[in-house]
Amino acid sequence: MTFAKIAGIGHYVPENVVTNDDLTKVMDTSDEWIRERTGIQERRYGTKSTETTATMGAEAARKACEAAGIQPSDIDFIVFATLSPDYYFPGCGVLVQRELGITDGECGALDVRNQCSGFVYALSVADKFVASGMYKNVLVVGSEMHSMGLDFSTEGRGVTVIFGDGAGAVIVQPSDSKDSAILASAMHSDGTYAEKLAMLSPGSHGGKHLSAQGDERDWGFAPQEDFGGIFTTQNMLDNGDFYPVMEGQFVFKLAVQKFPEVVLEVLAKAGLTVDDIDMLIPHQANLRIAQFVQRTLKLRDDQVYNNIQRYGNTTAASVPIALSEAIAEGKVKRGDVVVIAAFGSGFTWAGAVFRY
Ligand code: ACO
Repeated sequence: MTFAKIAGIGHYVPENVVTNDDLTKVMDTSDEWIRERTGIQERRYGTKSTETTATMGAEAARKACEAAGIQPSDIDFIVFATLSPDYYFPGCGVLVQRELGITDGECGALDVRNQCSGFVYALSVADKFVASGMYKNVLVVGSEMHSMGLDFSTEGRGVTVIFGDGAGAVIVQPSDSKDSAILASAMHSDGTYAEKLAMLSPGSHGGKHLSAQGDERDWGFAPQEDFGGIFTTQNMLDNGDFYPVMEGQFVFKLAVQKFPEVVLEVLAKAGLTVDDIDMLIPHQANLRIAQFVQRTLKLRDDQVYNNIQRYGNTTAASVPIALSEAIAEGKVKRGDVVVIAAFGSGFTWAGAVFRY
């Protein structure tokens, strides 16, 4: 039987460090508030117009190729996860392909739009393509350039302070042994609360979902009988509807429930228990969430890896950046049992367990 394994990993974070104190210069917030509620001390912001979600993804991809001992031209397929794409369309998959110079048409590219769980979903797609024998080298990228799309006024502080930029990537290859293989994964979603953590506009919603929930906002859409004006309106711009919205406490309560559930689910699927975990890498949404999950699962400090303190929440990039750092620091070694798990917008949540 063929399995799929993580053959190489790499990450890239922009040089520009933005501390909590830096944010106090543009909005009413404090280092103390941000540290206490989230654990975040600083994050990175990409350089406008030279760095994008796709270029950062390409940097991480090059490193992952090097670690796997392959050339970009060996990549058979790309799965790219992000919520902050360079363009509304086409997706970043084809842009990273162009950045890597592999545009001969041989390699397919797929974009995953699952926000915080995007990388875990993307990895499971790669796992199935490789384990089925369809592809030999699948590149999975999670990358975000959040800083371009955040509200830096005090109104946006509840969301803006938690996000940072960065990218992580892995090369997934066939394995003939369970000693180095993705053992199980699980994916879940519940669209009931889609608007609780979202960037609503621009979009084709026409106000529909929100008006059904009693929202009486005037989005400025063209009347029914007119053509056009349905995707981007002046009212959207005036109202700041291009910024993400989040009901933080609502998200928090569900996250601390779903994280442990999905960890236990993938372990059970793989015939393992919590005691078998060498390293849990939770999506870096909030240090308090990760600590809650650690307590619930009764894991030791050395069994959980967190780096949100330095990078904030990098959404689809957070798990591969953390995994890449944990490997570089020698905290994850070949053969170790690693569990990754994520919860976020959608809501979507997912987990996977692998022997590295
Ligand atoms: N600085 C100072 N004060 C702030 C800030 C800030 N940056 N942000 C909010 N506040 C204020 C609020 O205005 C509020 O003031 P009030 O009591 O006078 O009204 C008070 O702090 C409390 O605000 P809450 O939003 O209730 O704060 P909370 O303790 O819930 O922390 C946080 C907010 C950190 C966002 C938390 O709710 C959280 O982490 N939630 C989960 C986030 C998450 O997991 N998201 C999923 C991944 S993201 C994705 O999928 C895209």
